[in-house]
Amino acid sequence: MAKLKIGICGWGNVATGLYEQLVNGDGIYADWEICCIGARRDNPKCNSGSTKIFRDIFEVVEADIDVLVELIGGVETAKDLITRALNSGKHVVTANKAVIFEHGEELINLAIKNNVKLLFESAVCAGTPVIKMLSNDLSANKISQVAGMLNGTTNFILSNMEEGASYESVLQEAQEKGYAEPDPSLDVNGTDAAHKIGILAALAFNSGLPASDFHIEGIENIQSQDFIYANDFHMTVKHLAVAKLNNKGVELRSHPVMLSKDSSLAGLKGVRNGIQFDTNLLGEFLVAGSGAGRESTASGLISDLFALSKSKKSSPMQYPDFSKKPNLLNFDDLIFKYYVYLEVKDEPGVLALISKIFAEHAIGVDKIIQKDQLDNSSVPVVIFTDPIIESEMQIALQDLENHPVILNSKIIRIEDL
Ligand SMILES: NC(=O)c1ccc[n+]([C@@H]2O[C@H](COP(=O)([O-])OP(=O)(O)OC[C@H]3O[C@@H](n4cnc5c(N)ncnc54)[C@H](OP(=O)(O)O)[C@@H]3O)[C@@H](O)[C@H]2O)c1
Repeated sequence: MAKLKIGICGWGNVATGLYEQLVNGDGIYADWEICCIGARRDNPKCNSGSTKIFRDIFEVVEADIDVLVELIGGVETAKDLITRALNSGKHVVTANKAVIFEHGEELINLAIKNNVKLLFESAVCAGTPVIKMLSNDLSANKISQVAGMLNGTTNFILSNMEEGASYESVLQEAQEKGYAEPDPSLDVNGTDAAHKIGILAALAFNSGLPASDFHIEGIENIQSQDFIYANDFHMTVKHLAVAKLNNKGVELRSHPVMLSKDSSLAGLKGVRNGIQFDTNLLGEFLVAGSGAGRESTASGLISDLFALSKSKKSSPMQYPDFSKKPNLLNFDDLIFKYYVYLEVKDEPGVLALISKIFAEHAIGVDKIIQKDQLDNSSVPVVIFTDPIIESEMQIALQDLENHPVILNSKIIRIEDL
């Protein structure tokens, strides 16, 4: 059998992780050859040996390779690189969820037109198997919901904050360990998880990729005390991305949630990702594993390379039907229970005012607790609400914020998973 000739573009965390796995593979990858690397500079963490290096990554496209592995990240240059590779008859493997979310339809159509493959197992949950499982192994199932923690950095930050660490110190640690995206703001602002749930929704519901105008919220406003107050009710804070299908359309969202500590997802700490699938034949099941890091991502990339080398003729994955455009439901119409955190002036009558505003908006209060005074003589009030439509909750929050005794406010939606 002819060797699978590989060109790697990018020479950062993931690319060097893949390279090291391949060269240290004890002969497992004897049928593969890393022909060249596109790296605009050396990486002191990895010795590329005698492998040919191109300083211009686009020269990798012209090299004698079967597959280009795109590991530069970002959108436009990556799209250009993948486009040129596919048009040159090269297969492409990528870990880049941003480019697949933004341009996946066009790129997959280009791959089909050029009779080559575009595979992206590592774009969601790094090496934890999800993409080919969804597109191949679950094809007999109707999937009604995919909900999960899809960003390793965010889960690493939140689970360390739960243990008392500060947001800033854990983010720095995530960057040092290579878990964070090249631009970590995409991790913490919820965009990375949004890209991933968009890709999963297309695969799960066999439809086109959604537009990015669904509700996306990050973890920047989560504070240590949220974990303390959540713990009083046997809950914790996670970042969740959800795609849910019903007869009216698709609910798509990416935001922090409070989860019961009894939930399987709540128990996943560190860079672990977890996804709960709701299906008609298999019922409900959870896939969990490492969602970031060079080894984990290398595992997913190598599974794509294996799929390519094994199935030169048949397609290693079923692509979704892009002609079916998803009908996204309006986030304002969704119903949640809420954790409401208010910082209020330490004055008599404030609790009565809060209760009045909630009553005016027909928001049922499940629990309301006044906490110990903060340093600045304000008092935290924590409220757990009954289910209410999002739009009504937003108006009530605005009414509260308009009142001078309310100094600060925040909501976290409560998820029953
Ligand atoms: N890190 C993870 O845990 C993880 C997990 C799953 C998926 N991914 C995905 O894997 C990809 C790579 O991530 P990473 O963590 O390896 O990032 P990284 O460490 O920042 O590496 C990116 C590499 O690409 C190069 N590069 C970027 N833009 C370039 C351009 N325009 N021309 C030439 N080279 C360019 C960078 O070169 P310079 O050093 O010169 O900037 C660097 O060598 C991303 O798509 C990411 O979303 C990462």
